[in-house]
Amino acid sequence: MSKTMVALDFSTRKEVYEFLLKFKEPIYVKIGMELTYSFGFEIVREVKAMGHQIFLDLKLHDIPNTVKQAMKNLAKLDVDVVNLHAAGGSAMMKAAIEGLKEGAVNGKRPLCIAVTQLTSTSQEAMNEELLIPGDVKDVVISYAKLAKESGLDGVVCSVHEAKAIHEACGSDFLTVTPGIRLADDSKDDQKRVATPVFAKEQGCDYIVVGRSITKSANPVATYHEIEKTMEGK
Ligand code: C5P
Repeated sequence: MSKTMVALDFSTRKEVYEFLLKFKEPIYVKIGMELTYSFGFEIVREVKAMGHQIFLDLKLHDIPNTVKQAMKNLAKLDVDVVNLHAAGGSAMMKAAIEGLKEGAVNGKRPLCIAVTQLTSTSQEAMNEELLIPGDVKDVVISYAKLAKESGLDGVVCSVHEAKAIHEACGSDFLTVTPGIRLADDSKDDQKRVATPVFAKEQGCDYIVVGRSITKSANPVATYHEIEKTMEGK
């Protein structure tokens, strides 16, 4: 199973399909708010029908009953991974899992992972605007533990947090890590980036890669090169 999730951050359907049709075999893709809010769940169904695995990155955060019903509907899409904000609390996260189980296709619910703190939230903003005291890394670990206790399968995290999260939550608690660049790529708008080799060394279970693959001169070759690293080959 692929360990590299390709972020389909395109603004048109044409670009999505031109990109996917370059691949002979199914890959793992991340579909986020931009595509979903432009084209609806039809695009999720179509990409799934092409055989690809899907991380549907919609980051739910609402009262428990609403999240439960929403997750029930997302599970019916038969996607592989969904996510939510751990800040919604344990009752919301437990309700999310209940909803996913109720909507599961053929008894297999999607995995559910939590966003702890957005990487766009600075230490200062977390302390002074959100009024969460302490160090961002400690808060990330504490939210990851809450997610684990609430029955979630893992978290989205930075490569620099993956080791500490595995230590706190166990090696089978999934770490899914964006912010990946090949050694000679542009960083674009990302601030702290890491290579797939470093992500593998840090024990990241999955990496999310967008532009390093989608803007590569040879996306298929770049994907396979990264995937080989993640598979430890
Ligand atoms: O092109 P790039 O590899 O930077 O894309 C990374 C993907 O991961 C984007 O879809 C971005 O929204 C997502 N992401 C991120 N950092 C986070 C959470 C999600 O870059 N902390």
